[in-house]
Amino acid sequence: MRGKIVCGNWKMNTTKGRALKLALSIDKKILKRSKVQVIVCPPFPYLDPIKNTTSKVRLGAQNCYFEGSGAFTGEVSPYMLKDYVSYVILGHSERRKFLKEKDNEISLKIKAALGTGLTPIVCVGEDKNERKNNKQNQVIQKQVKSALKGLSIEEAAKIIFVYEPVWAISTFGTGEICNVSLALPAIRLIREIIKKQFEKSISENTQVLYGGSVNSLNVKEFAKEPEIDGVLVGAKSLDANDFIKIIKNF
Ligand code: PGA
Repeated sequence: MRGKIVCGNWKMNTTKGRALKLALSIDKKILKRSKVQVIVCPPFPYLDPIKNTTSKVRLGAQNCYFEGSGAFTGEVSPYMLKDYVSYVILGHSERRKFLKEKDNEISLKIKAALGTGLTPIVCVGEDKNERKNNKQNQVIQKQVKSALKGLSIEEAAKIIFVYEPVWAISTFGTGEICNVSLALPAIRLIREIIKKQFEKSISENTQVLYGGSVNSLNVKEFAKEPEIDGVLVGAKSLDANDFIKIIKNF
């Protein structure tokens, strides 16, 4: 059976003090026998202090490079991260857009993360224009296929996918919400692609989350759907009370 996940993506937010306080408040409020796996993804510099002060919350990074070490100024390798985190978000639309990350680079990062024992949380989804032109399925196909390219069946089985339509991300500014009726076909398509490329059992066991303007109220709709295994939360993961409510309501 697939487990449930609520993952907070803090993006480039917080200060050291705020990050610690936020992580501690979340950690304190997570029930010991919570059925939901709670993950927070703080900025790199705060991973070490947060790891040292929390016990229940799992940690993820927001990115990693695809090389293990070397002359790559400013980059952080999965080997460096594995002392701190179990997960790494890859292919987030903000990196695709602002850092010009392409599918092939994301694919290399996925391989490197898996090779180090990190679980990649891979984001896919269309932007506003692509949705307007009904291109969402093509975009998802391209991004998921590329993410799975060259992976063994064992490696593919470890990936967590997130359907995150770019136009529904709170900071994107459209104010539009992706409702369950739009999210479900995309999530089904992700599993269909995995099934075609590998086998049914892999697609049935892959955790697929939804992300984009999730809050403590709309999360209830996503939680009702057995095909949606969790949520990736941006803005509302920066407030401990909001985030805890989301966890409780999922
Ligand atoms: P949001 O961000 O919840 O603020 O829309 C989600 C994300 O970008 O991961």
